[in-house]
Amino acid sequence: MATLAELPTPASDFADLDEEIRRLKRERNAVLLAHYYQDSEIQDLADFIGDSLQLAQAAQRTEADVILFAGVHFMAETAKILNPTRTVLVPDFKAGCSLADGCPVDRFRAWKARHPGAVVISYINCSAEVKAESDYICTSSNAEKIVRAVPAEKTILFAPDKNLGRYLIKKTGRDMLLWQCSCIVHETFSLKKLEAILLQHPAAKVIAHPECEEALLDRAHFIGSTAALLKFVEADPANEFVVVTEPGILHQMQKRAPHKVLIPAPPEANCACNECPFMRLNTPEKVYLALRDLAPELEMAEELRDRAKLPIERMLALS
Ligand code: 13P
Ligand code: SF4
Repeated sequence: MATLAELPTPASDFADLDEEIRRLKRERNAVLLAHYYQDSEIQDLADFIGDSLQLAQAAQRTEADVILFAGVHFMAETAKILNPTRTVLVPDFKAGCSLADGCPVDRFRAWKARHPGAVVISYINCSAEVKAESDYICTSSNAEKIVRAVPAEKTILFAPDKNLGRYLIKKTGRDMLLWQCSCIVHETFSLKKLEAILLQHPAAKVIAHPECEEALLDRAHFIGSTAALLKFVEADPANEFVVVTEPGILHQMQKRAPHKVLIPAPPEANCACNECPFMRLNTPEKVYLALRDLAPELEMAEELRDRAKLPIERMLALS
């Protein structure tokens, strides 16, 4: 049995946990990648913050021995697929995604089988198994480009986000068959409450993520991925913005545009359900423990990795 002196130090024993995380990152030659929806403390500790496309690209090019992915499961899977020789860690294996969960691979295969010859585009918010069954992967920042790259005579199956799919149909004029699933966070925004905010802030611009429902998107002055929303706030001359996406993004917006007024769009109910419950499972304590124990580690069979890599590489080539 280990003596007390041999037991690993619990996170609560550090007066400065951030400093300990930075020290462990150096010791492990680890890179901490964080999505914009992470808590601000984790964003401030990260070596790279980005949207899902930028994070996939960062994971692909890193030379660190360890990738610690502060995001959700499908993002860490993508990092492993693109950089299989690195150790990929996640702070919490339970950090999933309602879109990935709503598209099980057996039902997805059956859907594909009913449409032989169709081109299958899957949003990156899906499992590695679904990626392996797809022709192209896309993210919210390159989805339009990917859809436009498919020859006009081809039928397109788009999964799993019906809201992003509907938005793309409107934007490109290209008909697609849509998997019926949505993000539990982006479905929660209330048009009525948004209108009430706009009465009080008539000069505010509404900016929204394309995972939002159609009625919200119709009200938006600008629609884009988290990275695109951030860029828009920085560059646009307006002073007030209502931000219709997960409010984690406000941390970087406020840093880059400190004098602008940012109003997070409220959810329908009186709850914090505009915060992604999966993303928010990650904490600095779990980041510390993952670096200390080199666990939980994400592993994947080579055969699955190879099949899932092809549609991601097709996406990256077009991005
Ligand atoms: P981004 O492509 O903007 O990073 O969106 C990912 C996501 O999960 C949004 O809910
Ligand atoms: Fe998935 Fe929605 Fe959370 Fe993004 S915000 S990770 S789409 S549940």
